[in-house]
Parts: sequence; structure tokens; C-alpha cells
Amino acid sequence: MFSRDHIVYEPIELPDRAGFSDDEVLAQAGAFYDRMKRRHTVRDFCDRPVAREVIKQCILAAGTAPSGANHQPWHFVAISDPSYKKRIREAAEEEERRFYEGGAGDEWLKALEPIGTNDHKPHLEEAPWLIVVFAQRWGQFDDGARFKNYYVPESTGIASGFLLAALHHAGLVSLTHTPNPMKFLNEMLGRPGSEKPIMILAVGHPAEDAKVPAVAKIKKPLDEILTVAE
Ligand SMILES: Cc1cc2nc3c(=O)[nH]c(=O)nc-3n(C[C@H](O)[C@H](O)[C@H](O)COP(=O)(O)O)c2cc1C
Repeated sequence: MFSRDHIVYEPIELPDRAGFSDDEVLAQAGAFYDRMKRRHTVRDFCDRPVAREVIKQCILAAGTAPSGANHQPWHFVAISDPSYKKRIREAAEEEERRFYEGGAGDEWLKALEPIGTNDHKPHLEEAPWLIVVFAQRWGQFDDGARFKNYYVPESTGIASGFLLAALHHAGLVSLTHTPNPMKFLNEMLGRPGSEKPIMILAVGHPAEDAKVPAVAKIKKPLDEILTVAE
């Protein structure tokens, strides 16, 4: 995608404007909050399939995210092949066993207690899709020469947030899964060493009896997360 040809600054008219009244702006902001507060990390999936086109649309939404110098330093691998899912589950559970057997340290394990997670990860096979998010530490011009990417963790984090919101907006549920370490994903999925796997999203529809930890409903109140200077 990136040729060495210098791309010049060319201003164009803002292509889209919402054009809402102040009241509508407030209503839209409230409606979005109302929608987003219903999102939860779900670890119990049913076997209802999700069309590949749905995943593609959600990845397109993720790809609209802002990024340092517009380098878009991300790559997504969407997996529905059961043999890949099985191998990812096996590799992730191996890492997770080490993590829960003490690798994580007491403080981290205590912090995870209210979430109720353990080294057992059936959702990595049960979810119809796994999406692995890779951060591109550097890019390559068409001729193979390397170029720097900027604000890679920030940019990839924002794109992942867009993806989570898009999946939720489509009526799907997801689980952000971060086996530690995740390097095994590069080799398994044939991604280059310039890319760092940052998360696996298990995606699908919730099981009939899906549960979430009660603590996930407790979000910090506004006065704790916002300071206004007016
Ligand atoms: C970067 C990141 C890593 C996470 N890793 C895991 C994980 O490995 N396993 C898991 O079950 N949940 C994981 N979660 C999900 C969190 O536990 C969850 O977001 C949190 O408990 C709040 O619940 P909520 O998403 O329903 O609001 C992760 C979330 C984030 C943002």
C-alpha cells in the first residue's frame, strides 16, 4: 500500500457532517452511552454461526480508526476454521496454566478473582470466530524498505475499541482474550516478525445460559473519571 512516492497535502471538503441541533447532539450522546453500557465481555458462546460478511463489515469499521500519521499499523486475522481454533485454544491454555499456577504473581491473580477466570478456555473453540489483532511495529514500502510507525499501541488500541463497539452494535458479543505471552500466534498464523499480537477476540452470539461476573456491572462514576475545567 505504501509506495515511496511522497504524498502531498491536499485539503478536500469535509465529506460528512452530522448537522444535528444541540438537542439532537445531546440525544445522540445519551443514546450511544445507553447502547455501550449494555456491552459486556461474554465468555459463554452458543453455536449460532456468524456470516463472514458481518466480520468483514466490523473490521472495515475498525479500519476507520485514527492512527499516528495515518499509517494504520494494524492487521486482523479472522479465524473460523475449527482446526486453527483448536490449536489456538491448546497453545493459549498452556500459557494460561503457567499464568494461573503462579506466573502472574499473587497481586494479579487476586485482581482476577472477582472475574472468575481460570486456565480453562473452551470459548476459544466454541465461538464461531476468533479475531487476532496484530500491531505493526514497523511498516514496509512496496520495495521492502522499512519505515517507522508512530503511536502504535495507541492506534491499535483505538482500532480495537472501534472493533469491539462495531461487534456490539451488530448485536454480537465478544471476549477480549490476552494469553501471556502471545508470540505463538505469529508462527501459527504466518504473520511477520514486525507484528506483535495484542489480543484475541472471541466473537459470536451468547449462550442461552451465558453469565457475566457481577463486578463487570460496576463502572467508575463520572466524578471519578472526569474532571471538567470550564
Ligand atoms: C486488554 C484486555 C485484556 C483482557 N484479557 C482478558 C483475558 O485474558 N481473559 C478474560 O476472560 N477477560 C479478559 N479481559 C476482559 C476483562 O476482564 C473485562 O473487560 C472486564 O472484566 C470488564 O468487564 P466488561 O468487559 O464486561 O465491562 C480483558 C480486557 C482487556 C481490555
